[in-house]
Amino acid sequence: MCGIVGYIGKRKAAPILIQGLKKLEYRGYDSFGIATLGNPIEIYKHEGKISEHAGSASTLNGTTGIGHTRWATHGVPNDTNAHPHTDCSGRLAVVHNGIIENYAELKRQLMSRGHKFRSETDTEVIVHLLEEKYQGDLLAAMHATLPQLQGSYAILALAAGENRIIAARQASPLVIGRGDGEFFAASDMTPVLEHTERALFLEDGDVADLSLQNVTIYHGGQPVERKTELIDWSFEDTKKGGFPHYMLKEIYEQPQAFYNTVKACPPEILASMIKKPSQVTLVACGSSYHAGMIFRYLLEETCKVPARLEFASEFKYFPPPVNGLVIGITQSGETADTLSALKQAKSHNCWTLAITNVLGSTVSRVADDTVYMRAGPEIGVAATKSFTSQLAILMQMVTCLSDRKVCDLLLHGHRAIEEVLLKDLAPAVDLCRKASSIFFVGRGPFYPVSLEGALKMKEISYIHAEGYAAGEIKHGPFALLSPETPVIAICMPDETYGVMLSNIKEMKARGAPVIALGLEGDSELTDIVDMFIPLPKTHKFLQILTSLVVLQLLAYHTAVTLGRDVDKPRNLAKSVTVE
Ligand code: F6R
Repeated sequence: MCGIVGYIGKRKAAPILIQGLKKLEYRGYDSFGIATLGNPIEIYKHEGKISEHAGSASTLNGTTGIGHTRWATHGVPNDTNAHPHTDCSGRLAVVHNGIIENYAELKRQLMSRGHKFRSETDTEVIVHLLEEKYQGDLLAAMHATLPQLQGSYAILALAAGENRIIAARQASPLVIGRGDGEFFAASDMTPVLEHTERALFLEDGDVADLSLQNVTIYHGGQPVERKTELIDWSFEDTKKGGFPHYMLKEIYEQPQAFYNTVKACPPEILASMIKKPSQVTLVACGSSYHAGMIFRYLLEETCKVPARLEFASEFKYFPPPVNGLVIGITQSGETADTLSALKQAKSHNCWTLAITNVLGSTVSRVADDTVYMRAGPEIGVAATKSFTSQLAILMQMVTCLSDRKVCDLLLHGHRAIEEVLLKDLAPAVDLCRKASSIFFVGRGPFYPVSLEGALKMKEISYIHAEGYAAGEIKHGPFALLSPETPVIAICMPDETYGVMLSNIKEMKARGAPVIALGLEGDSELTDIVDMFIPLPKTHKFLQILTSLVVLQLLAYHTAVTLGRDVDKPRNLAKSVTVE
């Protein structure tokens, strides 16, 4: 759940590494560090965000180097635990993303052989193991070291006196960018795009030797070819483009992203991937899980195909009896729990399909087939445009399984999203920012919409928020209602309208102020609530999108008003590669 970057070429490495790490900060941002190749190796590492210390780091010399931005797993965030880590002699340096599961045993053995450890990290064992095998050839040392490691890793290593970077991958992403007379290595394409669009993705078990002249890849000790691909994300997409935060930019990119996804994933293509399943199982985490829940409601209601939805983190250990199609939804394509769940499903002979936004991500190697969302890079930690693009694909799937009843509708989804982007939410933000706790309620597919609204609110504003199926809130949570606990109710004129109005009245009677999202012109709803946010009159599928976007904006503006770091909320990372 960290980000790593490497550079070898003719330019000064440090500024390139720092710039690259800034692009990867969404993967972790509690500390960072770089090592550049001089003789000896020069290192700068620090607790805190890169932007606060970039000046000092950029002064390191050398045209080859490696860097790391950390999301702590083993050992608190501090200067010592920050990567890179060095061996006892200081001749070797390593950065690592992943978890070395047998590190405790390895560390005990290494210490008994006289190695001195400085950090509490699992990573440090790698560099001491390399030290034992190193006889002037870092590639050979890496080949000899890897069989001792259990767990996941993307590793970049340097040795003083050898102008090369040795990279290794096992269950953590690693991409190599090919420039002109220079090479890059990184956890994903975002730091590389500024320099080149040509990339190759390492496979599990690959070791790469990056030199000034070439990159050579080995698998099982033998040289292998990996295809160079052209990446269709642009560097411009990775900038804030005048917005104060990536999250706001990405919220505003949703009309385009939704349209691109709908166009890129027409029903006929999806139909060939999903066939006519007798049963569909979805596995996912967090927001992706909420997308899966919306899909389940729509699929069962529109197509009468049974669907089950499982937390990926539960599925691996408590797999239900599954057959047919298993869909893993993961924007990053790297979520450890979702990867494990798909592997588990494959072991039950299910046909597995991944929905992801990241070309070359691990999930595309795990699943039998992959649908790419084409939402463009999402840098803000909170999922926004990747979420609506997941819905674009899932709604298209419903389209093809429902004999295309809602086909053309989705081609106009972007217009509905555009309409709500400029909503004035100031009064609602004012109410939310003072709240001790916020409840989000809805029924049917608007229940997962409320779960997603609550997740967005809590993760970036740090206000406690809960999503509830509106009928459930009286079974306990009513005890918490008060004037300090606003309720956001999503109330559309469907079969649940009447009962929703009753629920809203019940909540108001217990003192909670109610902000309602409903369709414009709904005077009955307007009359009973404290605040009404009107949404355009559209089809149910598009009501889901518009209400979601309003809830994203509500969370965003509330968090900004409270002075939160919305793009990098505390304790979180965008890509969760640990179970
Ligand atoms: C919330 C959020 C997370 C992710 C979750 C799964 O805004 O982004 O809840 O949805 O960590 O991530 P992916 O989709 O990459 O598997």
